[in-house]
Amino acid sequence: MQVTVLGASGRTGFHIARLLAAKGHAVRAGLRSRQRAEVLRDLDVEPVVADVTADPEDLVEAFLGSDVVIAAIGAPDPEPASVNLVDRDGSVTAIHAAEKAGVARYIQVSAQFADSPDQGDRLVRSILLAKQLSDLALQKSALTWTIVRPGTLTDGPATGRVKVAGHLEPGRVTRLDVAAVVVGVLGEPLTENRGFDVVSGDFPVGPALAALG
Ligand SMILES: NC(=O)c1ccc[n+]([C@@H]2O[C@H](COP(=O)([O-])OP(=O)(O)OC[C@H]3O[C@@H](n4cnc5c(N)ncnc54)[C@H](OP(=O)(O)O)[C@@H]3O)[C@@H](O)[C@H]2O)c1
Repeated sequence: MQVTVLGASGRTGFHIARLLAAKGHAVRAGLRSRQRAEVLRDLDVEPVVADVTADPEDLVEAFLGSDVVIAAIGAPDPEPASVNLVDRDGSVTAIHAAEKAGVARYIQVSAQFADSPDQGDRLVRSILLAKQLSDLALQKSALTWTIVRPGTLTDGPATGRVKVAGHLEPGRVTRLDVAAVVVGVLGEPLTENRGFDVVSGDFPVGPALAALG
């Protein structure tokens, strides 16, 4: 399968690209800037520039031929102006570009509580609202979609154990475990056209996703 990962230089996106390549997928690693390509030097992936705030036609070009797009982007700055530019407007642009490029499947890394965003401080609310709007755009699109809503991300090791469900109590989860869940989504048809929370838990990824049904 040909998969393009947006945000492949990021702390979660990198591991998504790495796991996909290890499974034998043809991976295009989307970068905001060519300058970040060095991060990917040890991975068997094809770096492509895919800045969600740049010309949308460049994104269409980057997506052409991909069966799947996975978005793991996040604004470099938590201020609302930056979050709205990347996590809201940029994400929506990427969704529309994927439709235009004839992509079939789109997996979006969102955030727990993006579907009930009126909470937290000013910065948290703006992130959740941006995620909610882009998640809604994805659900309304012609793409087969999955929205993965992780709890607070941590940089610990992979545990291989998670809890997933439509809605969960607030929790934490490692970026490595989120990457494994995102890659697992590709092999589990029950994840099509649905969104779910993910936090650390007791279940291996495959059975956890299969239990979503
Ligand atoms: N932090 C949390 O606790 C938390 C909780 C739930 C969900 N999330 C979400 O989980 C996802 C992954 O988070 P993370 O902390 O692993 O991400 P991260 O390390 O901050 O990486 C973000 C990625 O997005 C890329 N990016 C930024 N602006 C871009 C643009 N204009 N066009 C294309 N790519 C762009 C970055 O590129 P550069 O490397 O060039 O900067 C980087 O690759 C994000 O969507 C985040 O919102 C985070």
